[in-house]
Amino acid sequence: MQLLNRLKDNPNGHLPILIDQANKSMTKVSNLIEELLNASKITYGQMHLKPIDFKLISVVEDCIQNIEPRDRVKIKLVGDLQAHVYGDPVRIEQVVVNFINNAFKYAPASENIEVAIVQGVESVKLSVVDSGPGINAEKLPHLFDRYYRIDEGGFQYSGLGLGLYICAEIIKKNNGEIGVHSEIGKGSEFWFRLPMVKQNSM
Ligand SMILES: Nc1ncnc2c1ncn2[C@@H]1O[C@H](COP(=O)(O)OP(=O)(O)O)[C@@H](O)[C@H]1O
Ligand SMILES: [Mg+2]
Repeated sequence: MQLLNRLKDNPNGHLPILIDQANKSMTKVSNLIEELLNASKITYGQMHLKPIDFKLISVVEDCIQNIEPRDRVKIKLVGDLQAHVYGDPVRIEQVVVNFINNAFKYAPASENIEVAIVQGVESVKLSVVDSGPGINAEKLPHLFDRYYRIDEGGFQYSGLGLGLYICAEIIKKNNGEIGVHSEIGKGSEFWFRLPMVKQNSM
């Protein structure tokens, strides 16, 4: 609405810019709503999985195509690109999207974001590595908590603090593990590990 008002005062010239801004705001709002819906599904135990055997890199490739392009930032894929895992690819893609979007948001100066896949004996590990500001050691244990955000008062970036909580719930439900390594000044690595074959509990 604010944008339409500006348009009224500004009948020619800025239309494409205003439309672009409106689109970006809409995307932000719809992403926030989607996060809220996902979190409430998790709370009420309504996140149902459709686990299958799939090539982990395929969800990374899909999500790179769907993510808004960032001019300077390159996403590099390295490691065991043929590795397969057992889990729900739709949900697991959501985790990768969250990790990559967080890297864009909170490590904006990184020129490269690396997605690394390492095949182990019974599981496969995927990491998203940025060279951003890093995270204080005392904050690390809280990152996957519901509503937790570091710069709560700063209002610098929009967000609900639900993204990593949703990621942790998705990975747990897929019988995996999730975690983070980070050092101030050196960047962050958000990772998860998933089983390669069907587990009894699935
Ligand atoms: N790659 C990163 N580098 C630095 N801080 C990060 C990174 N990813 C997440 N964070 C921190 O973790 C917090 C929680 O992330 P998340 O659960 O996705 O919530 P949101 O993105 O909505 O704030 C963020 O607010 C941010 O402070
Ligand atoms: Mg987030």
